[in-house]
Order: sequence, then C-alpha cells, then structure tokens
Amino acid sequence: MTADVRLVTQRLVLRRFRSGDAGALAAYRSDPAVARYQSWDVPVTLEAAAELTEVFAGGNLTRPGRFQYAVERLSDSVLVGDVGVSLHHNRMQAEIGFTLASDCQGRGYATEAVGQVLEHLFTTRNLRWISAQCDARNTSSLRLLRRLGFVEEGRQRTRIWVNCEWTDHLLLRLLAANWRPSEAPCCDI
Ligand SMILES: CC(C)(COP(=O)(O)OP(=O)(O)OC[C@H]1O[C@@H](n2cnc3c(N)ncnc32)[C@H](O)[C@@H]1OP(=O)(O)O)[C@@H](O)C(=O)NCCC(=O)NCCS
Repeated sequence: MTADVRLVTQRLVLRRFRSGDAGALAAYRSDPAVARYQSWDVPVTLEAAAELTEVFAGGNLTRPGRFQYAVERLSDSVLVGDVGVSLHHNRMQAEIGFTLASDCQGRGYATEAVGQVLEHLFTTRNLRWISAQCDARNTSSLRLLRRLGFVEEGRQRTRIWVNCEWTDHLLLRLLAANWRPSEAPCCDI
C-alpha cells in the first residue's frame, strides 16, 4: 500500500505518478531538446513510459532511493513535468533532478515545483542538504538551481562524452541553513 503524496503550489500539484500519465511522459521525454542533457535516449516509447510510470507510481517517499513526483498544472490537469528526489541511506541528504515539457518552460513552473519540494524536504522532513548535478552547458537548469539558492561546489572537467565532445559536469548543493522559501502561498496536504 503506497501512501498518498501531494504538494500544492499556486499553479501546480505535485503528486504520485499513475498509469494514465504514460502518454504525456513519453511525449515530453521524447523531445530531443528536453532529453539533451539527460540520461535517456529518445524516443521514449509508450511501452517504456508505461513501465517507468509503474515504477514511479510504486515509489516510497520516505525510504532511501528515488521518488519521482508528477507535476500537474492545476488549471487543466495537464502533466507538465516531473521532479525526482534520491534520498540517501542516512535520510539526511538527497539529490534532486527535474524535467519540464518544452511548451511549459519559461513560466516559472520549475521554480515553483522544485521550490515546493525543497520546502518539504527541509522544513517537513528536516534534511540537512540537497545536491544537484548538471552538464555545464545546461544554462536553464543552472539558472533554476541558482535562483533557488544552490551554490556550485565542484566542476569535473571533461567528464562526459556527448555528441563528439567532452563536457564539464557541475556539482551544486543547497544547505538547509541557506534555504529561503519563496513568498508564494503553498501547502502540504
Ligand atoms: C531545467 C528546466 C526544468 C528549467 O525550466 P525553466 O522553464 O527555465 O524554469 P522555470 O519553469 O522555473 O521558468 C523560469 C523562467 O521563466 C521566466 N518566467 C516567465 N514567467 C514567469 C512567472 N510567471 N514566474 C516565474 N518565472 C517566469 C523566468 O524569468 C525564467 O526565465 P530565465 O530562466 O530566462 O530567467 C527545463 O529547462 C528543462 O526541463 N530542461 C530539460 C531537462 C533538464 O535538462 N533537466 C535538468 C537536468 S540537470
């Protein structure tokens, strides 16, 4: 039995994935622009997305390991993206990742969704720090992380071989003591 999961922001709800999300997940993860700095290959078939959705749907938020939030827009119930949290075995630190459908970018949704997950992890769950990893060329992701208060703590030079070139890999971290929640009204349900 999986417990209910629901974080609400002004425009979004972050909830557990369900089987009906497979089509939307396959669509936005198959977009080459969305997958460019990510770990998967495109296209993501409906079958692969259905398997992924099933794994995500069975995740346990409080156990060490990965939990993937589905990010749904409140106004029309469209799945706009996802936010992943990998909880360390010590339950005091985690790594975060995020993806938004291309046509939903540039509106502040990722800042709102990731910000609410950080608020939950720091304030409700008392985690001490959250890390993120990023291809140094992924400027949208870096802007998002810096906007939320993440600080670059390391650069692994020429770490990843992508499209015939070596790229740098950045390690960023946000300490609980430096977390400043936004003014946006939001709540855990
Ligand atoms: C990383 C990613 C989630 C960032 O998405 P994003 O749309 O840039 O981020 P937000 O949703 O927070 O939107 C912020 C932008 O919207 C603008 N914006 C427009 N209207 C806004 C509003 N009402 N409120 C807040 N921001 C708004 C902001 O000015 C900002 O623009 P800027 O980055 O040019 O300064 C997205 O690029 C993505 O999914 N990329 C592919 C997957 C990926 O690479 N993930 C990261 C792996 S490390």
